[in-house]
Amino acid sequence: MEYKKKIYIETYGCQMNFSDTQIVGSIMADHEFDTTKNIAEADLIFVNTCSIRDNAEQRVRARLKEFNRYKKKKPGLIIGVIGCMAERLKEQLIEEEKMVDVIVGPDAYRDLPRLLNLAESGQKAINVMLSADETYADIDPVRLESNGVSALISIMRGCENFCSYCVVPYTRGKERSRDPETIVNEARGLFEKGYREVTLLGQNVNSYKSKPGIGFPELIKMVALVNPLLRVRFATSHPKDLSDELLKVMAAHPNICRSIHLPVQSGSDAMLKRMNRKYTRDWYLGRISAIKQYLPDCGLSTDIIAGFSDETEEDHQKTLSLMTQVGYDYAFMFKYSERPDTLAAKKYKDNVPEDVKGRRLQEIIYLQQKLSLASNKKDIGKTFEVLVEGFSKKSKEELAGRNSQNKVVVFPKGDFKPGDYVNIKIVSCTTATLKGEVIGDNAGKL
Ligand code: 5AD
Ligand code: SF4
Repeated sequence: MEYKKKIYIETYGCQMNFSDTQIVGSIMADHEFDTTKNIAEADLIFVNTCSIRDNAEQRVRARLKEFNRYKKKKPGLIIGVIGCMAERLKEQLIEEEKMVDVIVGPDAYRDLPRLLNLAESGQKAINVMLSADETYADIDPVRLESNGVSALISIMRGCENFCSYCVVPYTRGKERSRDPETIVNEARGLFEKGYREVTLLGQNVNSYKSKPGIGFPELIKMVALVNPLLRVRFATSHPKDLSDELLKVMAAHPNICRSIHLPVQSGSDAMLKRMNRKYTRDWYLGRISAIKQYLPDCGLSTDIIAGFSDETEEDHQKTLSLMTQVGYDYAFMFKYSERPDTLAAKKYKDNVPEDVKGRRLQEIIYLQQKLSLASNKKDIGKTFEVLVEGFSKKSKEELAGRNSQNKVVVFPKGDFKPGDYVNIKIVSCTTATLKGEVIGDNAGKL
């Protein structure tokens, strides 16, 4: 039997990166590579990287050192950096660090086979060209690490919002939307294979526009119509583009999940202006009111940055008060990390001391834990339809899934299996999880 080379891919960063890894897996499979989860048998190691904060990059550098130790034992091994760090650091990774053989930016994955040939013959293999139109629309992602129930579908690429702190417009280039038919076909194909949930992905899905007349509300409706048993989620939304139109479409389609991730970043107008977010606190709260009006049971989550340039104690307090006012179910919370070449790096000093950033972040995390617990407690006694994803983390006697609001729900397994919809009455909770009991099997309807 012919020996097939093996590729091991490790992924860091956002869901978009996980989705890209599946595209890379597919391109490599077409060129006779099998993916492996066992690094020891790999002929090729790729790390799909994130540049959003300095610590994300440091983690990858540490991993590259370990990969190079493997290389000492296996001289033919090829190490590649793909994704956002490849785009940001370019030749630097090959020249200064000498730890990498192949460097490929997020829009150049089709070029991988040629680049690998170059690397195998000992030449410099780098392509970090960004594209105005690449969407990988025709590539059928290899569903690596999949639970067979939920899948990511990338609907657009790039970002042109230029939030002052953010590296993404530089690493992922211009915004472009994928053809709607290819998206709907991918969703239909997944449903036919047994998947029951798709997440439509983009840096800012609400600015999706492909053909005239098809914006995000129209697209999500097309996907929701694939089958009422297919749940549809989306991420991420920029508040400035979250339209009433979308909220109306969500309200009309029960299989579009009642969950919106709406990154606020800060509760202070001064900070929002410096961050170039293009909305005010009041305007953001207006969007939250609209969500609550159209979708009274909608789950809400957000992203928050602590300690951006010039942030005062008063600004920080405004973030805390906004969090309480909205009552988020969940939040991703970060210390500001200055990224080279961004607008903020050029214009604004990273002048909040590290210990102050740390303390503010802790206060934000502490408050969010209280809010998450309060939100979960309110669910006790309610019944939710849960899509089963697999066993709970703690026990093979329990299953775990999510409700429409995106909360994790754990319950005794009975005869249920991944992909089933089960009605669960919530009886207790922690900060992170709802626990409940089965009320009846309602497989077949939403
Ligand atoms: N420092 C800290 N957090 C950042 N984010 C983006 N850029 C930075 C940065 N330079 C956060 C934002 C964004 C999330 C994906 O990462 O909150 O919404
Ligand atoms: Fe990280 Fe942003 Fe790139 Fe995603 S798009 S991998 S969050 S830098």
